[in-house]
Amino acid sequence: MPCVIVVGGQWGDEGKGKIVDHLTARAQGVVRYQGGPNAGHTVVVDGRRFALRHLPSGILHPKVLSIVGNGVVVDPASLLQEIQDIRAAGVQVDANLRISDRAHVILPEHRVLDAQSEDAKGEAKIGTTRRGIGPAYESKVARLGVRMADLRNPQVFQDKLAAYRSARFRRLTDQPTTDDKTQEAYLEYAQLLEPFITDTVELLHSRMEAGDRLLFEGAQGTLLDLDHGTYPFVTSSNSSAGGACTGSGVGPARVTGVLGVFKAYCSRVGSGPFPTEQKGESGDRIRERGREYGTVTGRPRRCGWFDGVLGRYAVKVNSMECAALTLLDVLDEFEHVPVAVAYEYQGGRIESLPADLEAFARCQPVYEVFPGWRESITGVRRFEDLPVACRAYVDRMEKLLQCEVGLVSVGPDREQTLRRAGNRLERWLPE
Ligand code: GDP
Ligand code: IMO
Ligand code: MG
Repeated sequence: MPCVIVVGGQWGDEGKGKIVDHLTARAQGVVRYQGGPNAGHTVVVDGRRFALRHLPSGILHPKVLSIVGNGVVVDPASLLQEIQDIRAAGVQVDANLRISDRAHVILPEHRVLDAQSEDAKGEAKIGTTRRGIGPAYESKVARLGVRMADLRNPQVFQDKLAAYRSARFRRLTDQPTTDDKTQEAYLEYAQLLEPFITDTVELLHSRMEAGDRLLFEGAQGTLLDLDHGTYPFVTSSNSSAGGACTGSGVGPARVTGVLGVFKAYCSRVGSGPFPTEQKGESGDRIRERGREYGTVTGRPRRCGWFDGVLGRYAVKVNSMECAALTLLDVLDEFEHVPVAVAYEYQGGRIESLPADLEAFARCQPVYEVFPGWRESITGVRRFEDLPVACRAYVDRMEKLLQCEVGLVSVGPDREQTLRRAGNRLERWLPE
């Protein structure tokens, strides 16, 4: 019963959805373990595009169990809309989608507080998705949260909502920001979601006992992780591999391995330092070629070159032993492809991520420049058929990351995924 964690190695949007969908062909279950509708995971099947927010990217495989784990914060209205949309596209979810009864619920107040907090910060804003993610996790940590299980019992829900409102709003604004329709609406959502809500810990363990192979799908990325990311410009959960255990109820001893997903360059949505960001023509070219606009908010993503310092850091904090390199085709037209191998800071050279964000913001990348391959690779189906310069780039990535690159992605579609023979994934999830 292999358990493989798939985690983003950068600031999110690395193509996790595509890679999880690809690997699901070799698994029987996929678990989302943190985040909520701040995530936007795109899966393209035969040219059809699916944008998933709460749902695991395994959902498009009808026989695979899809679990929204206890570590996820669920916005019931948004999840119901997502279920409705995917049903309308002909995907069945009734038999294979399950939602943890321990998952916390995003309330309308959380969304309002998220927006208020961002507006109050002005220039210093984090650039959140304004989906209420931070305030929902705050409620969880403050032990004021409402969980999916609470929605089942109207009296319990009413009491918890009242307790949350009185504690939160007395301290902050003295203004409950939603009317009492919330209660009515949420109890209706609860009825619609009831068939999916269950004890997913018991379910997962019984599936493991039965020998199922499981994937754990991270949202966001390592540099947005609350502990290991570029704090405070992060999300409010542990998106790195450690979060997979707390967010699902499967202990570390059961984890077979961690696959890191990296773009062949870097992108970031929202604020915060980004040493290899390209504000000029190169950044614009990457953005247009990679269609780098947010799945959730439509915001243009900030784009720049691959950062080997941050990549190596991500490999460490997640114990990644294998990596997928995605969106490699986006670099097809570039004459030169720079990659950061270290930083220059205060006249010296550093090769790790400083905790002090002021220092990080002043780090200047030291680049190694690679010759581009200048031909389209989107039609290539075997790693050995990639242009020599492109393979050299991938080889250098491996050395920089100190992690093998087992998968290379050359386009958004399922078949645009190249496997390298003999990599760890073949052992973790054999055909
Ligand atoms: P996620 O949040 O990590 O799942 O990534 P997103 O779905 O937000 O962003 C990745 C985008 O790149 C999506 O639009 C994917 O369809 C697309 N994509 C994934 N892999 C590739 C690839 O190898 N090449 C290209 N051109 N697009 C890709
Ligand atoms: P996926 O799963 C990229 C960013 C936001 C903001 C910060 C905090 O698709 O990779 P939040 O709303 O979580 O409080 O915002 O995190 N962010 C993401 N950036 N991809 C994501 O998800 C993101 N989810 C949140 O832009 O900077
Ligand atoms: Mg995304």
